[in-house]
Amino acid sequence: MIKGIIFDLDGVLVSTDKLHFEAWKKLAQKLGIHDFTHEDNVRQKGVSRMESLEVVLEKTDNKYSAEEKEEFAETKNCYYVEMLKSLDSEAILKDAKEALIMLRERGLKIAIGSVSKNAPIILERTGLIDFIDEVSCGLDITRSKPDPEVFLVAADKLGLSYKECLVAEDSKAGIIAAKAANMKTLGVGPDHMNLDADYQSETLLSHVDWEEILSKN
Ligand code: G6P
Ligand code: MG
Repeated sequence: MIKGIIFDLDGVLVSTDKLHFEAWKKLAQKLGIHDFTHEDNVRQKGVSRMESLEVVLEKTDNKYSAEEKEEFAETKNCYYVEMLKSLDSEAILKDAKEALIMLRERGLKIAIGSVSKNAPIILERTGLIDFIDEVSCGLDITRSKPDPEVFLVAADKLGLSYKECLVAEDSKAGIIAAKAANMKTLGVGPDHMNLDADYQSETLLSHVDWEEILSKN
């Protein structure tokens, strides 16, 4: 029986996935890479900052030292954090808050499972923190999705067994991670059909059969 839902953050509850894309594009341009595309960005979803940088650097023949790479990742994060300064509840995706309220009313525990180290700032700025029981984020883990660590930590924080949790995700890496954690999966967002999740829906409420999901043993 599902007793807890673990939500990815970027692209599941908030539209910050678009800001990540903008910030990476800006860094790419600074490095003389002008063909960084949406498809490249899709491969960055759910993976850590340093691994996301490698997706950008695949587009150039230039070789960079570890120090330079650290500096590039820091520069991208500065662009991103600057964008987050104007973030507010408008960034919450359609149905997200309503779904959190409905699930909590039904007695489910709610956690965040995001590789982002900026997750706490985003939860504060959007006000979503008030609808969540526990946060497992980039500050709690050493391995990014598709490793299951971030979801295992979330379930541990909720005090639930792994098979009592369902993960809502918009990335392939996240769905692989959740399955590796022995959790049920709900694929959401524009790419939900391609994520190979147990359940799939564009948004978190209108097209999700929560009755069916929550009634399964
Ligand atoms: C999430 C996003 C990724 C991002 C990662 C690290 O998983 O989907 O695109 O690279 O977080 O985010 P951060 O805010 O720590 O750079
Ligand atoms: Mg995501």
